Amino acid sequence: MHKIFMRLAYILGENPPDRAPRRSRCSNVPLMSDDRPLERMKERLSPPPLPTDDRGRARLVLDTLILHLHPARIPKRTLRWTYTWGLGGLAGMLIGILVTTGIFLEVRYTPTAPDAYLDILNLRSDVWFGDLLRNIHHWSANLLIVVAVLHLLRVFFTGAHRPPREVNWLFGVAMLLLVLAANFTGYLLPWDQLAFWAITVGTSLVSYLPLIGEPLGRLLLGGPEVGPTTLLNFYTLHISFIPLALFGLMSLHFWRVRKDGGLSLPRRAGEALEGTPERVTTIPHLVRREGIYALVWLAAIVLFSIFVSAPLEGIADPGLSPNPAKAPWYFLGIQELLLHFHPFVAAVVIPGLAVTGLVLLPFTDVDTSSVGIWFRSARGRSIALFSAGLSLLLTSAWVAADEFVIRWTDWLPNWPSILSNGVVPLAAVGLVLLALDTWVRDRLDGNAEERVLFLFVFLFVALLVLTAVGIWFRGPGMELFWPWAMPAAT
Ligand code: HEM
Repeated sequence: MHKIFMRLAYILGENPPDRAPRRSRCSNVPLMSDDRPLERMKERLSPPPLPTDDRGRARLVLDTLILHLHPARIPKRTLRWTYTWGLGGLAGMLIGILVTTGIFLEVRYTPTAPDAYLDILNLRSDVWFGDLLRNIHHWSANLLIVVAVLHLLRVFFTGAHRPPREVNWLFGVAMLLLVLAANFTGYLLPWDQLAFWAITVGTSLVSYLPLIGEPLGRLLLGGPEVGPTTLLNFYTLHISFIPLALFGLMSLHFWRVRKDGGLSLPRRAGEALEGTPERVTTIPHLVRREGIYALVWLAAIVLFSIFVSAPLEGIADPGLSPNPAKAPWYFLGIQELLLHFHPFVAAVVIPGLAVTGLVLLPFTDVDTSSVGIWFRSARGRSIALFSAGLSLLLTSAWVAADEFVIRWTDWLPNWPSILSNGVVPLAAVGLVLLALDTWVRDRLDGNAEERVLFLFVFLFVALLVLTAVGIWFRGPGMELFWPWAMPAAT
């Protein structure tokens, strides 16, 4: 069996290291010893002797597989932990864990109500390691969102979204949206109260899309509200279209990293890059590190999943709405916006502007002179820190003020609410951002990239604050409470 596999690998293009074909000097194309087709065929179909020991055989397959993902040699400085933090690789590994555990979970799952819920109960109590499998799937999915966002931040803060990596940034944005979609569709599958009402709140956001909101909502839900057809629709999306698209994009993303000349090169502020960076072989330098990192994370995820169970409430009851009914945590920032803006502005305009901003970013922020330097410079680091602190203060103050003091609709009683509660507050926020940007430009003498950095950090921290308020500070009636004085949900 081994022999057949090795022979196949050889025929399909893998060359054992002990008889690599001669290669042209100016390209990587192997030179054929003879241009007669029969000779060529014979040469191709009769591989040289294969390694005879198990270790040699395993190495042959593994090495050639790894070299499909990585180049044979990489610049030594890209091995620095403090540059990538291994976040892209970790995201890839989490996707792998999710696919593997997902396939096992699927064996014991029926996407109909109430069987879906009963299957989960059954999985937890009657299937060997069923509970652990579900926990690993659940926590890996949540971790993936955090890791993908951290990876996006690392790429932005080191300027790695700039030319020539703009297209890969776009693939990344699409992958992040798909990761959110995968999480959201998976959220409904246990068919418990938590899932049912979170998806009810989450999908209600779609209805605010102009013109297509209503039909799109119906298409997604398979009816006017969340029900058994929604479960089937979400299941289908969750196990077929979304993973397929994610896998396709992930392949493109990895391929582009290589096409763009490998990772951007890390440097310290003020450090010049040498002409030809020192290179080391991928095997073992990079692969060994990746292996250790992956094993440590795998162990951490399994340990965490042994001790912390994925949530499961009572079976979904469409007649019993919990108070408060919250969307999944990663959409709580948007749900929080709904409490401050007209729904169209909160659910469509602001998220639309955010995604558009992410798409346009690599085409507007293009100065390549600081690529590879965390926060562009020492000054950039201070600006980013200052922006984060300011946003923390201003966003929290605005949430409190809007809750207790600001009454746009009372102050503009005759205006349609899309204006009084939508356009006017949005314009007010826009003016504050404009004023801050002008201040960074004039008072801090900020250049273009420092202004982009300031705004990006400000908006990102604002999103974090809104999400944190939604998770920990909103209680019954979606009113504000201190977390330690939070009344029990009903
Ligand atoms: C969601 C799943 C994702 C996976 C599995 C993934 C995977 C990877 C990997 C393995 C690398 C190379 C190593 C590293 O930088 O850590 C990488 C680089 C890169 N990723 Fe991602 N990524 C994901 C999401 C994103 C997102 C959300 C963005 C940005 C919007 C992004 C943009 C980039 C860019 C521009 C690079 C090249 C960085 C450089 O050259 O320094 N990726 N990604």
